[in-house]
Formats: sequence, structure tokens, C-alpha cells
Amino acid sequence: MKTIVCKESQVRDGPLVLVNQNHPLQSASAGRLGPVDENYPHILVERQMARLLTACIQAAGGGREIVPVSGWRSRAEQQRIWDETLAGEGEAFTRQYVALPGCSEHQTGLAIDLGKAAPVIDFIRPAFPYDGVCGTFRRLAARYGFIERYGLGKEAVTGIAHEPWHFRYVGAPHAQLMEENGLCLEEYTAFLRQKPRRLPDGPQVFYVPCAGTETIIELPDGCCQVSGDNVEGFIVTAWGKLA
Ligand code: DAL
Ligand code: ZN
Repeated sequence: MKTIVCKESQVRDGPLVLVNQNHPLQSASAGRLGPVDENYPHILVERQMARLLTACIQAAGGGREIVPVSGWRSRAEQQRIWDETLAGEGEAFTRQYVALPGCSEHQTGLAIDLGKAAPVIDFIRPAFPYDGVCGTFRRLAARYGFIERYGLGKEAVTGIAHEPWHFRYVGAPHAQLMEENGLCLEEYTAFLRQKPRRLPDGPQVFYVPCAGTETIIELPDGCCQVSGDNVEGFIVTAWGKLA
């Protein structure tokens, strides 16, 4: 067991931050960004995520059929997308499909919109079906750490319409726990707060509420990740001692 001290500001940082209309991105950094793929040098995402996305697309056999459409966005870019969509499609559509500037998880570098290759791909709502290669990608996604972030039936919780094309990288144990329990990211911390969780052969996952200026966290021996949730605490992932 070892003890670490987390500052209050660390609640805003880490790979598991929740970013939505009620929880704007507060972290200044978007992590280490790199091209999602050498064929799309202008689309950037967090680097570890880029590697796992490529691996998942390859495992699904989707190297040609699955294309990245939008990755990291600056706040200014999100504002431009918001303004253009508002002007072209009106407010109701924009609120359904474009996050408020400052409140888009694209600003974290941990989100990607994917499309099925086609001569014309809609930037706001790319087609990414549930069958064929895209369906295979979906079935594998959680194992590589990805969740379909805005699910059907979760609109009232996420505040965003069903977006079959938008995936968020959270890491494999979390994606698998969310998928297995039918949870979106907004619902995940409440689930962890009930009790520590673990999938068979997976790491232990537990929640520590922020205690104020400094929070003391006891970590099990071995490899651990501590991420802020951008709400009121920390999510700890403990893989234990590596063999
Ligand atoms: N389309 C998602 C909600 C975004 O704009 O971040
Ligand atoms: Zn998106």
C-alpha cells in the first residue's frame, strides 16, 4: 500500500474527465496530441488513444472503410462549428448535435467521430452504421477502451442526441464496465461510488471523493492510474503487481 496526496485542481484532469453542458472542460491541457493516423495528419487525438483506435480499426478489418472525421477541437473551433451549425440548421438541431463551446469532449483530445467511407461524409452527423465493418468495430471497441458516448435512450442524461459516430476513449476496464452495465459516462461515477468494481481478470476500480484542498488516497501495490472526474473526485484504477 502507498499513500498519495491529490490537490483539488487534479479533479479537473485525467483520462476519465466528464465533459458536458453541466461540466465544462476546466483543464488547460489536452494531453499529448498526435495524428490519429498517418493518412489524416490534420486530425489529432491523444497519442495512446490514437494507437488503440488504429489497433481496433485494424482488428475489425476496417482499414479502408472506417475513416476519422473529427478529433481534437480547440474551443475556437468548437465555437465556429456551433456558429455555423446554428446559422445553417437552427437552434434545436445545434443543441442536439453540437456541444456548447467549452463543453465539448472533443476539446479533451479523447473523442473521435468516425464515418463509413463514402464520397461525401456529413461532418456533423457522419454515417457509422451498426452492421458490417462498423458493427464489428463497435463489438470490439470496449476491449480497446472506447465507448459510444451518446447512446440511444441516454439523451436525457447526456443532453445530446443519439450519436452513433462519436466515440470516447476511457480505457478498457472502464469501457467494459460501462458496456456491461449499460451506463453512460454521466452514470459511471455513481456506480463506482456504490462499491469498488472489478471485471474478471480486470483491475480494481474505485472512487475517492475529493476531500478539499488535499485528498489522501491509499493505493494498492503495483500499477495504478488516478484520474479526476471533473465533478467531485478521483477514479482509481489498480492493476496490482505485474507478474
Ligand atoms: N457532437 C458532440 C456532442 C460535440 O460537439 O462535442
Ligand atoms: Zn463527436
